[in-house]
Amino acid sequence: MRGRNKPWADQFILDHADYLYHQETSFLNNQETYLEVGIGKGDFIIQSCQYYPHVNHIGVELNKSVFAIALKKIVNTNIENVKLLQVPAAQLVELIPHHSISKIFLNFSDPWPKKRHARRRLTSSVFLSVYDNIFKGDKVIVQKTDNTGLFESSIVSLSNYGYIIEDISLDLASTGMENSLTEYEAKFMKLGVKINYLVAEK
Ligand SMILES: C[S@@+](CC[C@H](N)C(=O)[O-])C[C@H]1O[C@@H](n2cnc3c(N)ncnc32)[C@H](O)[C@@H]1O
Repeated sequence: MRGRNKPWADQFILDHADYLYHQETSFLNNQETYLEVGIGKGDFIIQSCQYYPHVNHIGVELNKSVFAIALKKIVNTNIENVKLLQVPAAQLVELIPHHSISKIFLNFSDPWPKKRHARRRLTSSVFLSVYDNIFKGDKVIVQKTDNTGLFESSIVSLSNYGYIIEDISLDLASTGMENSLTEYEAKFMKLGVKINYLVAEK
């Protein structure tokens, strides 16, 4: 997601530094922790925090302007079970304690359609090895995407890496499942685009 440059972002992030994740001080409790990589403007993680008040949530977003918009929404909703990191996902292995995450959500991740960019996909083996370090116990990845190429490559990559696809749909809305919409998802659904969905477990 490309957010227009937000000149207020730096100061706003500084002013709300209590929402930033630090492994030494954040979530010193026994609750499980969900991680969303690429939170965009934050709609999904906010709904998940509200739906699962006893689950810690860590949201990661690379783009500073988009991150600041998500942070603003979070500040305004007064939720306490979320902390954020404005970093690329590759850094998670250094920033999140090993064996601490129970579920990872990848919502409408950038598809990187060119073959030479395949390693940048958030379900490539590069990132699956990062997730391997931070996962605790059963490793569960939940993916939603409109992009068929990314979805197919994720199925192959996850399977090659030892994940079992436990649940899958090529039209999430048709399943009638309870589902928190992301910003991208809401836009695609208005256009009638079908959403691919999978849950993979290792
Ligand atoms: C297409 S947008 C989807 C945003 C949101 N998840 C949604 O569904 O509406 C993908 C988001 O992932 C972020 N992103 C892409 N690669 C990332 C990475 N390696 N680490 C962290 N965030 C990343 C982008 O900056 C962008 O905001």
